[in-house]
Amino acid sequence: MQFLLITIDGPAGAGKTTVSRKLAQSLGYRYIDTGALYRGVAFEAKLRGIRHDDDEGLEHLCRVLDIKFVSGKKGTRLITNDSDITDQIRTPEITMLASAVSARSVVRKYLLGLQKDMGKEKGVVFEGRDMGTVVFPDADVKFYLDASCKTRILRRYKELLPKSSATLEEIERDIKNRDENDSARTLAPLKPAKDAIIIDSTVLSVKEVVELMLTHIQKIAGR
Ligand code: DC
Repeated sequence: MQFLLITIDGPAGAGKTTVSRKLAQSLGYRYIDTGALYRGVAFEAKLRGIRHDDDEGLEHLCRVLDIKFVSGKKGTRLITNDSDITDQIRTPEITMLASAVSARSVVRKYLLGLQKDMGKEKGVVFEGRDMGTVVFPDADVKFYLDASCKTRILRRYKELLPKSSATLEEIERDIKNRDENDSARTLAPLKPAKDAIIIDSTVLSVKEVVELMLTHIQKIAGR
Protein backbone atom coordinates (compact mmCIF):
# COMPACT_ATOMS: atom_id res chain seq x y z
CA MET A 1 0.00 0.00 0.00
CA GLN A 2 1.37 3.47 -0.84
CA PHE A 3 2.18 5.94 1.96
CA LEU A 4 -0.75 8.18 2.80
CA LEU A 5 -1.46 11.37 4.67
CA ILE A 6 -4.30 10.74 7.13
CA THR A 7 -6.06 13.38 9.21
CA ILE A 8 -8.14 12.93 12.36
CA ASP A 9 -10.13 15.91 13.64
CA GLY A 10 -12.75 16.12 16.36
CA PRO A 11 -13.70 17.66 19.69
CA ALA A 12 -11.88 17.28 23.01
CA GLY A 13 -12.34 13.89 24.65
CA ALA A 14 -13.49 12.03 21.52
CA GLY A 15 -10.51 9.67 21.80
CA LYS A 16 -8.44 11.20 18.98
CA THR A 17 -5.06 10.85 20.66
CA THR A 18 -5.35 7.17 21.62
CA VAL A 19 -6.87 6.24 18.28
CA SER A 20 -4.38 8.31 16.22
CA ARG A 21 -1.44 6.77 18.05
CA LYS A 22 -2.73 3.22 17.60
CA LEU A 23 -3.63 3.80 13.96
CA ALA A 24 -0.16 5.22 13.21
CA GLN A 25 1.41 2.27 15.04
CA SER A 26 -0.51 -0.34 13.09
CA LEU A 27 0.36 1.35 9.77
CA GLY A 28 4.01 2.00 10.72
CA TYR A 29 3.36 5.74 10.24
CA ARG A 30 4.49 8.84 12.13
CA TYR A 31 1.94 10.41 14.47
CA ILE A 32 1.71 14.18 14.90
CA ASP A 33 -0.30 15.73 17.72
CA THR A 34 -0.90 19.29 16.50
CA GLY A 35 -2.70 20.25 19.72
CA ALA A 36 0.70 19.94 21.44
CA LEU A 37 2.01 22.73 19.19
CA TYR A 38 -0.79 25.10 20.32
CA ARG A 39 -0.12 24.04 23.89
CA GLY A 40 3.60 24.77 23.36
CA VAL A 41 2.85 28.31 22.14
CA ALA A 42 0.48 28.83 25.09
CA PHE A 43 3.11 27.59 27.55
CA GLU A 44 5.80 29.89 26.15
CA ALA A 45 3.39 32.86 26.10
CA LYS A 46 2.60 32.31 29.76
CA LEU A 47 6.29 31.95 30.63
CA ARG A 48 7.01 35.33 29.01
CA GLY A 49 3.93 37.07 30.41
CA ILE A 50 2.28 37.48 27.01
CA ARG A 51 -1.52 37.66 27.20
CA HIS A 52 -3.58 35.37 24.95
CA ASP A 53 -5.02 38.40 23.10
CA ASP A 54 -1.77 40.34 22.71
CA ASP A 55 -1.27 39.76 18.98
CA GLU A 56 1.91 41.81 18.79
CA GLY A 57 3.46 39.86 21.66
CA LEU A 58 2.32 36.55 20.17
CA GLU A 59 3.70 37.48 16.77
CA HIS A 60 7.08 38.28 18.25
CA LEU A 61 7.00 35.04 20.24
CA CYS A 62 6.27 33.01 17.10
CA ARG A 63 9.15 34.73 15.31
CA VAL A 64 11.70 33.71 17.96
CA LEU A 65 10.19 30.35 18.87
CA ASP A 66 11.82 27.16 17.69
CA ILE A 67 9.22 24.46 18.34
CA LYS A 68 9.64 20.86 17.25
CA PHE A 69 9.00 17.22 18.01
CA VAL A 70 12.05 15.08 18.74
CA SER A 71 11.88 11.28 18.93
CA GLY A 72 14.14 9.49 21.37
CA LYS A 73 14.30 6.89 24.14
CA LYS A 74 11.47 8.60 26.02
CA GLY A 75 9.19 8.63 22.97
CA THR A 76 8.27 11.78 21.08
CA ARG A 77 9.03 14.95 23.04
CA LEU A 78 7.98 18.55 22.43
CA ILE A 79 10.98 20.88 22.44
CA THR A 80 10.88 24.69 22.46
CA ASN A 81 14.19 26.51 22.12
CA ASP A 82 16.06 23.48 23.52
CA SER A 83 13.74 22.91 26.54
CA ASP A 84 11.71 19.73 26.85
CA ILE A 85 8.20 20.95 27.78
CA THR A 86 6.30 17.71 27.02
CA ASP A 87 5.15 17.16 30.59
CA GLN A 88 4.37 20.79 31.34
CA ILE A 89 1.78 21.44 28.63
CA ARG A 90 -0.95 19.17 30.04
CA THR A 91 -2.12 21.29 32.99
CA PRO A 92 -5.72 22.62 33.05
CA GLU A 93 -4.37 26.18 32.79
CA ILE A 94 -2.32 25.49 29.65
CA THR A 95 -5.26 23.52 28.21
CA MET A 96 -7.55 26.58 28.39
CA LEU A 97 -4.78 28.95 27.30
CA ALA A 98 -4.04 26.76 24.26
CA SER A 99 -7.69 27.01 23.25
CA ALA A 100 -7.53 30.83 23.64
CA VAL A 101 -4.27 31.36 21.67
CA SER A 102 -5.48 28.97 18.97
CA ALA A 103 -8.15 31.55 18.05
CA ARG A 104 -5.47 34.19 17.18
CA SER A 105 -4.58 34.45 13.50
CA VAL A 106 -0.86 35.16 14.15
CA VAL A 107 -0.54 31.85 15.98
CA ARG A 108 -2.53 29.86 13.41
CA LYS A 109 -0.52 31.36 10.55
CA TYR A 110 2.77 30.44 12.20
CA LEU A 111 1.70 26.87 13.00
CA LEU A 112 0.10 26.39 9.57
CA GLY A 113 3.49 26.65 7.82
CA LEU A 114 5.12 24.40 10.38
CA GLN A 115 2.44 21.72 10.05
CA LYS A 116 2.53 21.81 6.25
CA ASP A 117 6.30 21.25 6.38
CA MET A 118 5.79 18.27 8.69
CA GLY A 119 3.36 16.78 6.17
CA LYS A 120 5.73 16.96 3.19
CA GLU A 121 6.72 13.38 3.79
CA LYS A 122 3.72 11.04 3.69
CA GLY A 123 3.13 8.03 5.92
CA VAL A 124 1.74 10.19 8.70
CA VAL A 125 -1.35 10.57 10.88
CA PHE A 126 -2.12 14.19 11.85
CA GLU A 127 -4.43 14.79 14.80
CA GLY A 128 -6.08 18.17 15.44
CA ARG A 129 -9.12 20.37 14.81
CA ASP A 130 -8.56 21.73 11.30
CA MET A 131 -6.32 19.11 9.72
CA GLY A 132 -8.80 18.02 7.03
CA THR A 133 -10.40 21.44 6.50
CA VAL A 134 -7.50 23.93 6.47
CA VAL A 135 -4.03 22.42 6.88
CA PHE A 136 -4.35 19.40 4.58
CA PRO A 137 -7.46 19.87 2.42
CA ASP A 138 -5.95 17.33 -0.04
CA ALA A 139 -5.26 14.65 2.59
CA ASP A 140 -5.66 11.09 1.30
CA VAL A 141 -8.02 10.02 4.08
CA LYS A 142 -9.88 12.31 6.49
CA PHE A 143 -11.64 11.21 9.64
CA TYR A 144 -13.81 13.20 12.03
CA LEU A 145 -14.02 11.41 15.35
CA ASP A 146 -16.92 12.37 17.59
CA ALA A 147 -18.69 11.05 20.71
CA SER A 148 -21.58 12.26 22.84
CA CYS A 149 -20.77 15.11 25.22
CA LYS A 150 -21.49 12.92 28.26
CA THR A 151 -19.13 10.19 27.02
CA ARG A 152 -16.35 12.69 26.30
CA ILE A 153 -16.65 14.18 29.78
CA LEU A 154 -16.52 10.74 31.45
CA ARG A 155 -13.56 9.61 29.34
CA ARG A 156 -11.57 12.73 30.19
CA TYR A 157 -12.47 12.31 33.88
CA LYS A 158 -11.20 8.71 33.94
CA GLU A 159 -8.07 9.66 32.00
CA LEU A 160 -7.18 12.49 34.41
CA LEU A 161 -8.21 10.66 37.59
CA PRO A 162 -4.79 9.16 38.48
CA LYS A 163 -2.95 12.48 38.31
CA SER A 164 -5.52 15.21 38.91
CA SER A 165 -8.01 16.19 41.58
CA ALA A 166 -10.39 17.80 39.07
CA THR A 167 -14.06 17.01 39.74
CA LEU A 168 -16.51 15.77 37.14
CA GLU A 169 -18.18 19.22 37.20
CA GLU A 170 -14.86 20.97 36.52
CA ILE A 171 -14.11 18.67 33.61
CA GLU A 172 -17.62 19.17 32.22
CA ARG A 173 -17.10 22.95 32.35
CA ASP A 174 -13.67 22.66 30.71
CA ILE A 175 -14.91 20.44 27.86
CA LYS A 176 -17.98 22.61 27.22
CA ASN A 177 -15.88 25.80 27.23
CA ARG A 178 -13.40 24.31 24.83
CA ASP A 179 -16.14 22.98 22.55
CA GLU A 180 -17.56 26.50 22.44
CA ASN A 181 -14.14 28.20 21.87
CA ASP A 182 -12.92 25.72 19.27
CA SER A 183 -16.16 25.54 17.27
CA ALA A 184 -17.35 29.15 17.46
CA ARG A 185 -14.11 30.90 16.48
CA THR A 186 -14.06 32.46 13.03
CA LEU A 187 -10.61 31.11 12.13
CA ALA A 188 -10.43 27.43 11.22
CA PRO A 189 -13.31 26.41 13.50
CA LEU A 190 -13.74 22.79 14.47
CA LYS A 191 -16.03 21.14 11.90
CA PRO A 192 -15.87 18.04 9.73
CA ALA A 193 -14.37 18.47 6.25
CA LYS A 194 -16.98 17.92 3.50
CA ASP A 195 -15.21 14.71 2.47
CA ALA A 196 -14.44 13.46 6.00
CA ILE A 197 -15.54 10.04 7.19
CA ILE A 198 -17.46 10.70 10.39
CA ILE A 199 -17.09 8.12 13.14
CA ASP A 200 -19.11 8.30 16.34
CA SER A 201 -17.12 6.48 19.01
CA THR A 202 -19.77 6.76 21.76
CA VAL A 203 -20.42 3.02 21.85
CA LEU A 204 -17.21 1.82 20.19
CA SER A 205 -13.98 0.64 21.81
CA VAL A 206 -10.59 2.01 20.71
CA LYS A 207 -9.92 -1.29 18.93
CA GLU A 208 -13.23 -1.09 17.07
CA VAL A 209 -12.59 2.50 15.97
CA VAL A 210 -9.07 1.66 14.72
CA GLU A 211 -10.37 -1.40 12.84
CA LEU A 212 -13.09 0.67 11.24
CA MET A 213 -10.54 3.27 10.17
CA LEU A 214 -8.22 0.60 8.74
CA THR A 215 -11.10 -0.78 6.68
CA HIS A 216 -11.82 2.68 5.24
CA ILE A 217 -8.11 3.28 4.56
CA GLN A 218 -7.71 -0.03 2.72
CA LYS A 219 -10.77 0.72 0.63
CA ILE A 220 -9.53 4.21 -0.30
CA ALA A 221 -5.94 3.08 -0.94
CA GLY A 222 -7.19 0.29 -3.22
CA ARG A 223 -9.11 2.64 -5.52
O1 DC B 1 -5.97 18.52 21.11
P1 DC B 1 -5.61 19.41 22.31
O2 DC B 1 -6.63 19.35 23.39
O3 DC B 1 -4.24 19.12 22.82
O4 DC B 1 -5.59 20.89 21.72
C1 DC B 1 -5.38 22.02 22.51
C2 DC B 1 -6.09 23.21 21.89
O5 DC B 1 -5.45 23.57 20.67
C3 DC B 1 -7.56 22.98 21.53
O6 DC B 1 -8.42 23.53 22.50
C4 DC B 1 -7.76 23.67 20.22
C5 DC B 1 -6.40 23.94 19.68
N1 DC B 1 -6.10 23.24 18.44
C6 DC B 1 -6.46 23.86 17.27
O7 DC B 1 -7.05 24.93 17.29
N2 DC B 1 -6.12 23.30 16.09
C7 DC B 1 -5.50 22.12 16.05
N3 DC B 1 -5.16 21.60 14.86
C8 DC B 1 -5.15 21.45 17.24
C9 DC B 1 -5.49 22.04 18.44
